Amino acid sequence: MEFGVWTKGLATLGVDCLVLGIFEEGELSGEARSVDAASSGALKRLLARGDFAGRAGDTLLIGDLPGIKATRVLLTGLGSKKSFSRRSWRKAWAAAAAALSRTRIGSCAVAIDRPDARQLDDYYFGRSVAELAGAALYRINDLKTGKKPPLPELKRVLAGPVRRAAAAERGLSHGAAIAAAADVQRDLANLPANICTPSFLAAQARERARRAASLRVRVLDEAAIRREKMGCLLAVAQGSRQPPRFIVLEYRGTGAGQPPVVLVGKGVTFDSGGISLKDPPGMDEMKFDMSGAAAVLAALTLASQLKLRLHVVGLIAAVENMPGGKAVKPGDIATSASGQTVEILNTDAEGRLILCDALNYARRFEPAAVVDIATLTGACVVALGHHHSGVMGNDEPLVRELLDAGVRADDRCWQLPLTEEYAEALKSNFADFANVGGRDGGAITAATFLGKFTQGLKWAHLDIAGTAYLTGASKGSTGRPTPLIADFLLTRAAAR
Ligand code: BES
Ligand code: MN
Ligand code: ZN
Repeated sequence: MEFGVWTKGLATLGVDCLVLGIFEEGELSGEARSVDAASSGALKRLLARGDFAGRAGDTLLIGDLPGIKATRVLLTGLGSKKSFSRRSWRKAWAAAAAALSRTRIGSCAVAIDRPDARQLDDYYFGRSVAELAGAALYRINDLKTGKKPPLPELKRVLAGPVRRAAAAERGLSHGAAIAAAADVQRDLANLPANICTPSFLAAQARERARRAASLRVRVLDEAAIRREKMGCLLAVAQGSRQPPRFIVLEYRGTGAGQPPVVLVGKGVTFDSGGISLKDPPGMDEMKFDMSGAAAVLAALTLASQLKLRLHVVGLIAAVENMPGGKAVKPGDIATSASGQTVEILNTDAEGRLILCDALNYARRFEPAAVVDIATLTGACVVALGHHHSGVMGNDEPLVRELLDAGVRADDRCWQLPLTEEYAEALKSNFADFANVGGRDGGAITAATFLGKFTQGLKWAHLDIAGTAYLTGASKGSTGRPTPLIADFLLTRAAAR
């Protein structure tokens, strides 16, 4: 898709469709007023007839307004003017983009009223236009055999009004790249686990690195993982016919010697729970348990696409968690790559077992920061629901960076406490610690476990169990937290 900025003369713009915002109060914005004037009051008459109430999420497509070069005008509801915010603007554009995607409209000019610049400056305006357009046009790479609905035809989007065109254009190009990265994550996460196996993830990483000169990849197979003494990761993998893979991606956008940001992704391509088998309802959703891994792949793709002046390493621990005659059993003790021993009381707490060995691997890069991304606990979903990811860490400034990036990117996370008391729950009589600490505070005890392997590192953990995918009728990957990670990296590269 191609993005640009429109400056003036909406009525004479050579696009297929103008997108205008309408408040519930029926009042026309500056942009809508100019269109109304050019069409001799056609919009005002339509509103006076009560044909469009301006409710948030509602849209109305009108054809052939007189005096307007564009053949269509799409009205999108902004809700009440009193509570107008960045959120209502986003909702209005998202609804409009979704409506456009179901038509044969090929080009449009976005002319929806904007909240003031403190809420949405020109850069983030451009970025949101492109990101939300990308999200609305996303189609699941499904395996349905029937006739496919026609693909969206939207190819060109002009955004305005803007004060600083250069900032808006930078936002548009970043937003387009973020949307493409989110698509990478979504496509991988939506695949069924019989296709998206650890080896498949490794092949995907290789393919991405082949296409981007600045990306390098190394894949450790089972024997190499054994040489790294990743006993916890191997314990999870041992019950599956699918061999594990440990994927190392490296993007270098700086000269030698700059310590990297290391991103670590949980890549459980299917989480049955293992011998501690999960309940059947919703078990299919555990194909999304590699969303963190997909987000890491997406982030590295993005860094190379935007040529960020940053050194980024992506580590992906890819395994399948299955029961079977060779599977790890409750009570088994594994030795992690760090040398610490773990009593595996619950084989369904597998994410932390693969992450602990991946986090330990991060040490060799002497990183500036380590951020792991994982669909780690159901407890995090209970605590925060589906709007915020959980964030915890051992370095307050790093946690703050992620919190702030999430706010700017509209992909928020919320901090949970990570204080010493929680470590008591992980006491074991037989090993250095257990892999579970009971039901209460489960998101925190999981992070506490990871904290045992990140001492001396600047580390933060994102629990995306509630945000990475949707369930029910709109089941599918959301592409989160790719916008958050993108903002974190862009800010570190001072490229925002
Ligand atoms: N992958 C799950 C966490 C999860 C749950 C993600 C729901 C998305 C939605 C993880 O491996 C897991 O099974 N965690 C257990 C931990 C427990 C055994 C301590 C959980 O949350 O129940
Ligand atoms: Mn599990
Ligand atoms: Zn899991």
